[in-house]
Amino acid sequence: MFITLEGPEGSGKTSHIPHLVEYLREKGYIVFPTREPGGTSIGEQIREVIHDLKNVEMHPRTETLLYQAARAQIVEQVIRPRLAAGEIVLSDRYADSTIAYQGYGHQQDLEQVRALIRYATGGLVPDLTILLDLDVEVGLKRKTRQDEWNRLDAYTVDFHRRVRAGYLEMLKLDPARWSVVDAGQPWEQVQADLRTVLASALGRS
Ligand code: TMP
Repeated sequence: MFITLEGPEGSGKTSHIPHLVEYLREKGYIVFPTREPGGTSIGEQIREVIHDLKNVEMHPRTETLLYQAARAQIVEQVIRPRLAAGEIVLSDRYADSTIAYQGYGHQQDLEQVRALIRYATGGLVPDLTILLDLDVEVGLKRKTRQDEWNRLDAYTVDFHRRVRAGYLEMLKLDPARWSVVDAGQPWEQVQADLRTVLASALGRS
């Protein structure tokens, strides 16, 4: 089963994933956590280029293509083989991040972006995607407190508002694949809600 976590900046995905992995392993599942961009040696090198503060001149189309290059690699090298072996792959971001950030955020043509994603992934779509939804200002405040600054953090608040709106639109368009958890709640409640969503999806599959 292929499960992805998505959300705007500061939504806390990365802090929740190790605990979700532990929860699923205790239930007896074989789980492989990964992250995008990255998750392979080639992907981590691409991540460096995308995040590097000195690459200020990067065009949104360049950014979009670099994400797809990293994604093509992780899909073929990691995700497909693990899924074929019957494992759960739990990814911190995937293709929906490109639709939210490059599509809605940078206002690139959504149909063209979707076509690039289909090419990069060979059509691999998650079985379940959980949106950790959070107010944009709250998320950006959390982010500046906790994380290292990278080039993408220089985007405006309006950009991040479009990203969140994009996520909410995707959730509305495909409720069978998407679930939402309110990331504005205390950490323990967010973790509990995430576990409930996972348990119910695994119960169905
Ligand atoms: P994160 O490590 O906080 O998840 O940061 C990854 C950044 O990369 C985040 O700002 C979202 C951005 N991103 C995109 O813009 N498009 C993508 O396709 C992916 C995977 C990430």
